[in-house]
Amino acid sequence: MQKIWIYIMIAAMIDCYEVWTPENTNASLHFLDIKRTCRKARQSKGKLWKICRKEHKILEEINKGSQLATKECQYQFRHRKWNCTTQRKSLRRVLLTDTRETAFVNAIVSAGITTAITHGCTSGNLVQCTCDSKKKVLSHAEDWEWGGCADNIQFGYRKSKQFLDSPHRRKDFRTLVLFHNYEAGRQAIKKYMRLECKCHGLSGSCSLRTCWHKMPPFREVGARLLDHYDGSFKVIPGNDGKSIISEAKPHTKENLVYSENSPDFCVANKKTGSLGTVGRSCNATSRGIDGCELLCCSRGHHTKVDRVKKNCKCRFSWCCEVVCDTCVAKIIKSYCK
Ligand SMILES: *[C@@H]1O[C@H](CO)[C@@H](O)[C@H](O)[C@H]1NC(C)=O
Ligand SMILES: *[C@@H]1O[C@H](CO)[C@@H](O)[C@H](O)[C@H]1NC(C)=O
Ligand SMILES: *[C@@H]1O[C@H](CO)[C@@H](O)[C@H](O)[C@H]1NC(C)=O
Repeated sequence: MQKIWIYIMIAAMIDCYEVWTPENTNASLHFLDIKRTCRKARQSKGKLWKICRKEHKILEEINKGSQLATKECQYQFRHRKWNCTTQRKSLRRVLLTDTRETAFVNAIVSAGITTAITHGCTSGNLVQCTCDSKKKVLSHAEDWEWGGCADNIQFGYRKSKQFLDSPHRRKDFRTLVLFHNYEAGRQAIKKYMRLECKCHGLSGSCSLRTCWHKMPPFREVGARLLDHYDGSFKVIPGNDGKSIISEAKPHTKENLVYSENSPDFCVANKKTGSLGTVGRSCNATSRGIDGCELLCCSRGHHTKVDRVKKNCKCRFSWCCEVVCDTCVAKIIKSYCK
């Protein structure tokens, strides 16, 4: 009897020790609930569980990556009917379906994690990896050589894949779609690595340059994935049960794929997770997607006058500063009915 209790106590202690809490205790909600993911990983004892148990520094980076992805998604979708909300119930609904929105979220999370882990290597936060120092084939131009601290995309790519893919053992259709979009997220970085160079030589003569590989800025990654969202491919299961095929023209590794049509995000709907667009701010003079006509789904809009303080009548004052008056400017803002 006593023996059993000791086992239980030890098990409880290990549990306390193992549940990871982010260092950054900012309670801001984002896509991934890493604590929950890790709790669920316990049963599988796979690669994910290994990361959860032993690689807490990597979890920190993954947490940062998820935050980065969330912010970027909200930026890219700021003018859309679905605005990438992290409101828990809505987000859960969106992630339960298999729409274009689901595809975008999965791809950008995967991209965010790849970026954050790779950045962790470059910045020295992670001890498991360093700058990418593999010798590359020299350029034919030969007026520069490899050097500096290259972003270690191989490591970020691998770890991101381990963390996201390994909990999914069953390779059913939904999982194949998910894996495809995770990969599309990683490709949005891997395929667009760029060369960054620094000049050496007497007084900026640039007689010698060293160059290294650098990841694209995340804003650019977000914009690229948004393009893929707009041109995403609807897919169906292949006959072999191991592939997905698109209904129209074939897709590539970089494209986003989905299998269910999106709900109408015009009105609130608990079932689909749509919050509706009532109260969203819109642009009364635009005819695009941010315009009131489209964003408010033809329901019309209210206007409200906001007063903002502004510097005005600025002039030089001898010597040498600029002096301004404060004026109140009126801005007319429109909101969906
Ligand atoms: C916490 O979140 C706020 C608002 O999103 C942000 O301005 C702030 O920088 C965050 N703090 C940390 C430590 O990340
Ligand atoms: C998204 O839209 C909802 C309502 O449609 C609004 O409550 C929320 O503040 C918006 N979120 C962001 C991040 O813009
Ligand atoms: C509203 O749309 C017009 C026309 O597209 C554009 O010129 C203007 O900058 C937009 N206003 C805001 C606040 O985005």
